Amino acid sequence: MLIEKAARDLAAARNVVALTGAGISIGSGIPPFRGKGGLWEKFDPMQYASIDAFMADPEKVWREFIGELKVVIDNAQPNAAHMALARLERLGMLHTVITQNVDGLHQAAGNTTVIEFHGTFTRQRCTDCAALSATRDVDLSRLPPRCWCGGVLRPDWVFFGEMIPSVELDRARQSAAGCDLMLVIGTSALVQPAAYLPVIAREASARVIEINAEATPLTASVSDYLIQGKAEAMLDQILGALEALRPDGPPHPG
Ligand code: OAD
Repeated sequence: MLIEKAARDLAAARNVVALTGAGISIGSGIPPFRGKGGLWEKFDPMQYASIDAFMADPEKVWREFIGELKVVIDNAQPNAAHMALARLERLGMLHTVITQNVDGLHQAAGNTTVIEFHGTFTRQRCTDCAALSATRDVDLSRLPPRCWCGGVLRPDWVFFGEMIPSVELDRARQSAAGCDLMLVIGTSALVQPAAYLPVIAREASARVIEINAEATPLTASVSDYLIQGKAEAMLDQILGALEALRPDGPPHPG
């Protein structure tokens, strides 16, 4: 079975990197971008998630899009998939998480080396003085919310039309090139340059294992195999199988 195969592949690997996307946070109540119920079904990204749209009318973007997202992300908790990746790190078997998500749930679960490829929504940044503030503390009674200096606050994420910060881009590329196993979890692999990271891993002879509810453009040509299903259930089962393989066996309850 593929679950046991993934556990064996993880046990044999020396440098494991996980690349995650919106699918891993669906179990935490955060909608994905594409597909049924996805954010881009309701919001045209060019009108709500591009830097030009934000700068042209930040009040509208906050009122109709970002404000709603704040309520969802402020209240979200890590799910079994995030917890499984944190367990994998505690076992000394996960080097780095590269995430396209902006929800901070990998860190909340306990992962310590997380590259936030598209930035984060857990912080807001002043468009004038660049001061950062925790999103939870941002007052939405007047929109757009403002910094103490009077500048408009924006999410510390990468809007469409902005570049991936070079530090994150370089770290992510190096992690992909240096790993010998990449878990690609819950991403449609349609957005570049993130979708190229598994290709870099593959070209460096790493094994690429996808965990996704459905096949993606990577499945046929880049991934070694796809474990099809919900990340919450699949990762939990893989961790169970992996812990059973270890010489000290599965952990005792309590
Ligand atoms: P998408 O919404 O494009 O894709 C989500 C993926 O998760 C799909 O492939 C689903 O099949 C899969 N999926 C759904 N439920 C799942 C589950 N329970 N377990 C595992 N997989 C599941 O999200 P991303 O690929 O993350 O960028 O999107 C990439 C980027 O596009 C985002 O970071 C964002 C967006 O535009 C920016 O905003 C810059």
